[in-house]
Amino acid sequence: MRLGIQISGRGSNMQALVQACSAADFPAEVALVLSNDPGAAGLAWAAGKGIATAAISHKGMDREAHERLMDAALVEAGVDLVCNAGYMRVLTPWFVEKWRDRLINIHPSLLPSFPGLNTHARALAEGVRWHGCTVHYVRAPVDEGPIIAQATVPVAAGDTPETLSDRVLTAEHRLYPIALRLVAEGKAPVVNERVEIPAGALPESLCHPG
Ligand code: GRF
Repeated sequence: MRLGIQISGRGSNMQALVQACSAADFPAEVALVLSNDPGAAGLAWAAGKGIATAAISHKGMDREAHERLMDAALVEAGVDLVCNAGYMRVLTPWFVEKWRDRLINIHPSLLPSFPGLNTHARALAEGVRWHGCTVHYVRAPVDEGPIIAQATVPVAAGDTPETLSDRVLTAEHRLYPIALRLVAEGKAPVVNERVEIPAGALPESLCHPG
């Protein structure tokens, strides 16, 4: 399975996917890393690893025109699955439908709690005891779509948004490759807008969080 990874910034989740794909038995390869921000640090990192990269700025064009360029780059690279990894643009229904069930995202909360931005500060403000991250298929409403996998982290006394973010990010780097493997192996089909994971396919470590 050929991946197109969409980023906007530092790209640490992209790096985790690249690293996972470097294992001989991993069922996916990175065909293209692309960003809407030519200055994204992750682009330089990927280029340094010899991975094909593209920067397509969204500035000065409407949302769909930009997405048509992103889509053309993905198609040109022979991409089968698009992985959003810190891609900070809201996608239009056109793009989402074009890549329906071939477009996944990682979000730093336990969806459906805390969609949108500033998830860690909002989790702390609510006083939740558990927080975490979600990998899901993308649908047009922001941070909605069939859930593939989630990982939890405890909220600790004295946590700040930064300390909580660090803990969640570590979980993200573990979770995204696990979820990607399920998708690439055909073990995360969408059935009636829910993901059906075959019994035993989720690693034991995700079944007993904490
Ligand atoms: C991650 O927390 C991701 O879940 C969110 O934005 C952050 C991106 O970090 N959407 P990175 O660019 O992958 O390092």
